[in-house]
Amino acid sequence: DGPATVSPTGQPTGAEQARAAQSGAYLTTAQGTRLPDSDHSLKAGARGPVLIQDHHLREKITHFDHERIPERVVHARGAAAHGVFVGYGAAGEVSKAAFLAKDVQTPVFVRFSTVLGSRGSADTVRDTRGFATKFYTDEGTFDLVGNNIPVFFIQDAVKFPDVIHAGKPHPDREIPQAQSAHDTFWDFVSLHTEATHHTLWNMSDRGIPRSFRMMEGFGVHTFRLVNAADESVLVKFHWKPRLGVHSLVWEEAQMICGMDPDFHRRDLFDAIESGAFPQWELGIQVFPDTADQTFEGIDLLDPTKIVPEELSPVQPIGLMTLNANTKNYFAETEQVAFHPGHLVPGIDVTDDPLLAGRLFSYLDTQISRLGGPNFGQIPINRPHAPVNDMLRDGMHQTAVHTGVAPYRPNSLDGGCPFLAGADMSAFIETPVEVPAASKVREAPSSFSDHFTQPRLFWLSMTPLEREHIVAAYTFELSKCHEQAVKERTLKVLANIDPELCGQVATGLGLPAPAATVPLVAAGSSPALSQMGGTWPTD
Ligand code: HEM
Repeated sequence: DGPATVSPTGQPTGAEQARAAQSGAYLTTAQGTRLPDSDHSLKAGARGPVLIQDHHLREKITHFDHERIPERVVHARGAAAHGVFVGYGAAGEVSKAAFLAKDVQTPVFVRFSTVLGSRGSADTVRDTRGFATKFYTDEGTFDLVGNNIPVFFIQDAVKFPDVIHAGKPHPDREIPQAQSAHDTFWDFVSLHTEATHHTLWNMSDRGIPRSFRMMEGFGVHTFRLVNAADESVLVKFHWKPRLGVHSLVWEEAQMICGMDPDFHRRDLFDAIESGAFPQWELGIQVFPDTADQTFEGIDLLDPTKIVPEELSPVQPIGLMTLNANTKNYFAETEQVAFHPGHLVPGIDVTDDPLLAGRLFSYLDTQISRLGGPNFGQIPINRPHAPVNDMLRDGMHQTAVHTGVAPYRPNSLDGGCPFLAGADMSAFIETPVEVPAASKVREAPSSFSDHFTQPRLFWLSMTPLEREHIVAAYTFELSKCHEQAVKERTLKVLANIDPELCGQVATGLGLPAPAATVPLVAAGSSPALSQMGGTWPTD
C-alpha cells in the first residue's frame, strides 16, 4: 500500500515488473499453471466442436472481452512522460511546501491531452491542451492539473456539463470528433459570453500547438500559498517551456491530422527517446491575500481573467525535465488519476467557484472510470510518501491491511495518536474568514465584464497573428449551419474589436454588426494603460 514497490520514476519494480513481460521460460495461465499451447482451443477431434471444458480458452477470451475501460469524459486523448522537478528555493518565503526548497528533487509524471476528442482522435486539432503534472513529493502527492490556455470558458462549475455537451460531437451523428467547428459549440459560446476570452485564445495560434514540448501551462485558478509562519499569498501557476512557445499554422495542422494523427505523442516520445529532454520552468505570479481577492481591479476568483505579466511578473521557482518515456501506455497514461484536490502543506485552494466543482468532479469520475475507490493503489497513482489512512476494502482492493481497528480513536492498534509537536508540516486548510451571507444563486458583479480582456488579447497580437485569428473564426463559423448562430457570434466579435468582427463578417459574406458594449481604448483600463495597449504574449 505504501511506496515500497514503486521506483523513483513511479514505475513498478520487483515482482510487478516480472509480471509485466513474458519473460518466463514457459507460458502459463493467469494462475501460473504451465501451458503447452495457447494457439489452439480444445476440440473433440481436429475438425470437431470446441469443448466448453477448455478453461484456457475461456480465461483468455474472457479477459480480452474486458480489456477496455471507459475513456475520460474529457481529455480522453493524451500522452505522458516521467521526469523530475527541482526546486530553486525561490518560493521559500511564500510556501512551506518542502518540494519547492532549493535543490530538492521530486519525481513527476506529466500527461498532456486534448480536451474534446475521443481517445483515438487526432492530435493536431484546434482545441485546448491539458497539462497535468503529478508531483510525488515526500509530503504526499501534489497535482497541478492545468491547461495550455490561461483562462477557462465558464466561471462556475455548474456550467461544465453544458460547455462540454456543447463542445463534444453532435449527439445525432457524432460529428465532428475533435474540432470546434460546429453549431452547438458556437451556439453555446455566443450565448454565454463569459466564454469569449477562452474562445479567442482557442482561435489564436495557441489552439494548434507545434508540440507538447513547446506549450506553456497554466494552473488557471488562483491558488493560495502558505509559509511556515502561516502567512498566505495568492498565486497563479505558470509553466514556461525552455523551447519557447510555437504553433502550427492551420494548413499544417489539418494535413498532419490526416498524415500523422499521432504527431504530438510521437514528437514527445521521440524527443525523450533521443535524449532531447523537454524542460519547463515553473513560475508564480504572487498577489497579496487581501479580503477582496482582487489585484489591480482584476478579480482573482474569476477563471476567465488573467493578470497580465506586465502587472505581475512570473517568478521562476523550479525546473521540470521530462526524461523517461512510459513503459506501458495503459498502466501509466490511461490509469493515472489527477485531481486538483491533491494538495500538500503550503499549497491550498481559493473560493473560485469553478475550482470548487473540480474538487468534487475528479474523484467522482475516477471511481467509475477506474472501477471503484481503490485506484490510488495502482502503481502510477501511489504516493511516494507513507500512507496511513483508515480507508478499507472496496472493489479492487490490493492492500492486505493489518490490525483490527481502522477507526479513531482506538486503543487496540496504537491509536494513531497525534504526537505533540510532531505534525508540523501537516496539511491545514488556511483559516480564511467567510463573510456572513445568505444563500444565493448568482455571480459577483466583478464576473460580468466579458470583453475587456479578450480585447486586450486581440490588441496584443501582431498583424500575422490577427490574420490567423480572423481565418480561424471564418473557417470555423463557415462550418455552422445555423445562420442565427453565425450572426450572434459576429455580435460577440463586435464587442471585442470592430476590425476583427468586420473581417470575419466579410469572410462569411454577412453584414458586420455594431458593438453593444463600450470598447475600452488603450489607456482607459488599468491593465491597458500600463501596457500602452500592447501585450507581448510570450
Ligand atoms: C480532466 C472535470 C475544468 C484540466 C478532467 C476530467 C474531468 C474533469 C471529469 C476527467 C478526469 C479523469 O477521468 O481522470 C472538470 C470540471 C471542470 C474542469 C468539472 C470545471 C468545473 C478544468 C480546468 C482545467 C482542467 C479549468 C485547467 C485548469 C483538466 C485536465 C484534465 C482534466 C488537464 C486531464 C487530466 C489527465 O491528463 O488525466 N476534468 N474539469 N479542467 N481536466 Fe478538468
